[in-house]
Amino acid sequence: MAEFVRNAWYMAAWAGEVPAEGFLARRLLGRPWLVFRDNGVWQMVEDRCPHRFVPLSRGTFSNGRIACGYHGLTFDGSGACVHNPFGPIPEGARVATCPVVERHGGVWFWPGDPALANPDAIPDFGFIDANGSVARSHYVMAVNYQLIADNLLDLSHAEFLHVESFGSNGSLFSHGAQTVAQDETGAIWNKWDMTGAPPPGWAASMVQDGETVDQALHIRWHAPANLALFIEMRRSHDTGPLVPPMANPHILTPETAQSTHYFFTHEPGPEAEAMARRVFLEEDEPMLAAQAEAMGEADFWDMRPLILASDKAAVLARRRLRQLIRREGGNAEDAPP
Ligand code: FES
Ligand SMILES: [Fe+2]
Repeated sequence: MAEFVRNAWYMAAWAGEVPAEGFLARRLLGRPWLVFRDNGVWQMVEDRCPHRFVPLSRGTFSNGRIACGYHGLTFDGSGACVHNPFGPIPEGARVATCPVVERHGGVWFWPGDPALANPDAIPDFGFIDANGSVARSHYVMAVNYQLIADNLLDLSHAEFLHVESFGSNGSLFSHGAQTVAQDETGAIWNKWDMTGAPPPGWAASMVQDGETVDQALHIRWHAPANLALFIEMRRSHDTGPLVPPMANPHILTPETAQSTHYFFTHEPGPEAEAMARRVFLEEDEPMLAAQAEAMGEADFWDMRPLILASDKAAVLARRRLRQLIRREGGNAEDAPP
């Protein structure tokens, strides 16, 4: 049973997470990898020595080469063994590698057939580059990546789970309209547009008493789980924005089937970072962890979930992902009824 799409771009790390003269060791899609630069060129090799299978990350790194800390076999970024302290290089002495490129400050890898790896297929996160001062962060959430994508694709949960942070006091239901769309880039969009609504708590001080706002809450999904959130707000009947338009990446890469690397950005400074972490780690994660625990090993669709109108985008995304996994010959875990 395949758990992940292979022929797809995933983010391994923010470039800044990788030391200039060293490597980053990270588990991605269930396998341990090393990410590093060799003369400025990104490389990614499996963090597992083919001799006795110890992590190469226990060894030493120098000039784009890693010497195993157990018996000294040394490998370069192409995966080739370039030194054997005991004599000639043994035949077949290689470690696995992945195509890897840098885009939008992230290091992206392609775990599938290297011949199919086209960097143009990396979703456009150009808005990250456009914001010169943005801070990039990462943490690991102990749940399956599809549960997090479901969560992001249905922002109506903000009215219940994020009441204190970015919920809009119920105006999503009283003043909101939902549009689900697919675009030419292969993205699935879930767009909530609130018109003539009371301002959410965080914007209340920006308008006069009794004044209403129009708010757009749009989320974009590209397979496998690369999401972007766009928020805009203006005074009703006003053309200019009330706050600068916001665009945030929510890029998810499975660490394992039960844990996920979550890449996000925030305004610089400890306050903005604390706010982002509070929303994700204190509001979303406990709910998702409880959901994962309640579901146990059971398959999502086998449990016959109730489907609400607000789930449409998440269902489309799960269906798209299932098709992609099936096309690669795996049996998708999720088969919608
Ligand atoms: S385990 Fe790596 S060289 Fe022996
Ligand atoms: Fe949330």
